[in-house]
Amino acid sequence: MNRRTTLTFTTYATQKLPEEKVFKDPIHRYIHVRDQVIWDLIKTKEFQRLRRIKQLGTLYLSFHTAEHSRFGHSLGVYEIVRRLIDDSFDGREAWNNDDRPLALCAALLHDLGHGPFSHSFEKIFNTDHEQFTQKIITGPTEVNSVLRRVSEDFPQQVADVINKTHENKLVISMISSQIDADRMDYLQRDAYFTGVTYGQFDMERILRLMRPSKDEVLIKESGMHAVENFIMSRYQMYWQVYFHPVSRGGEVLLNNCLKRAKQLYNEGYTFKKYPADFIPFFEESMTIEQYVDLDEAVVVYYLKAWINEDDAILSDLSRRFINRDLFKYMPFDGSIITITELTDLFIQAGIDPNYYFVSESFSDLPYDYDRPGSDRQPIHLLRRNGKIREISSQSLVIHSITGINRQDYKLYYPKEFISDIEDDQVRNAINSILAVSYTHLTLPTTPYV
Ligand code: NI
Repeated sequence: MNRRTTLTFTTYATQKLPEEKVFKDPIHRYIHVRDQVIWDLIKTKEFQRLRRIKQLGTLYLSFHTAEHSRFGHSLGVYEIVRRLIDDSFDGREAWNNDDRPLALCAALLHDLGHGPFSHSFEKIFNTDHEQFTQKIITGPTEVNSVLRRVSEDFPQQVADVINKTHENKLVISMISSQIDADRMDYLQRDAYFTGVTYGQFDMERILRLMRPSKDEVLIKESGMHAVENFIMSRYQMYWQVYFHPVSRGGEVLLNNCLKRAKQLYNEGYTFKKYPADFIPFFEESMTIEQYVDLDEAVVVYYLKAWINEDDAILSDLSRRFINRDLFKYMPFDGSIITITELTDLFIQAGIDPNYYFVSESFSDLPYDYDRPGSDRQPIHLLRRNGKIREISSQSLVIHSITGINRQDYKLYYPKEFISDIEDDQVRNAINSILAVSYTHLTLPTTPYV
């Protein structure tokens, strides 16, 4: 029998769910998922693991509600890119909608390789979250098998976008640039969950005024003040939240805790609570599976157990982290005494500078454009006449901070260790130096060269 059928070919890349799924979200109200591939990626165990990795690591020790996860942030970045495509780009000449699955998958997966308390882990165990993001996407994982259903080379393409090596510069700039979906989500999300007011800006307006071009996302010139606001929000979030000295104190403690555990392991110390899950990290030989297995719940479990260790340093540092008994911090500018001289004084006082004296420096460059000494991709404004202008040549506010790098130094040490120093001379010397460097503090701003 001859039956006429109409076949509609839909590939997996563009296949829609029978019904849209929505996630309730405090930043975007709702996150909409209509694509099968996105839904399948969210369900993988590697993506679900991001629920157990906090977006701001140890910052909850100073901002008690900053317990939000990388899972929420990743969904948020996906949602911003989805809206950018579906509401602003679709139908415009410079946008090829065949790139939609690539942009959406890269947005969703851009932070996939973050480990527990990322910064501490990277510092102590030489891991690199960007490298693990690549490995999880291209290696033998559930995420990889979902992406391979699109096409054999699709995992590599998604990895290349995240790694900024893909030939499609427009898609890269949607996810990583000086005004990208990543920053637009984390500034608002981190502001919301820390309770500060700095991270707010008019994202609706910025999204509406974004335009695709061959190599980058442009912003119509009428959006300039909204971008100024975004840049200032970012600047203030860095100094008020991300570099908050008390917040950094939590990270200092965790770093030293992990450093001590690794040192003890290398020395053949007999742990009461054997750190089985950490061995691949101590030996820097972890597989993708071992990496994905370790989340923050596991780390905190060990830290709690290590309070009962015989090693006084590991026990003390673990207790301090778990019970939030942070080191004291002091501003430091190096003008009175060098770190080496101060370290010598700590050694004379019998304080182990490897674990109880830390100098930290932070720096941030709020905005720059590509010129000698800088490789930043500029923010470009699209004028009514179709011409393109770099934003600092148009905006007074952005011009005034362009290329300026702000730096800050802090010293961390346990306050009671100083008052317990028996040698009066050493104690007084340390106290006076810490006091002097405080009054002489300036916040250096150095021109970027
Ligand atoms: Ni991110």
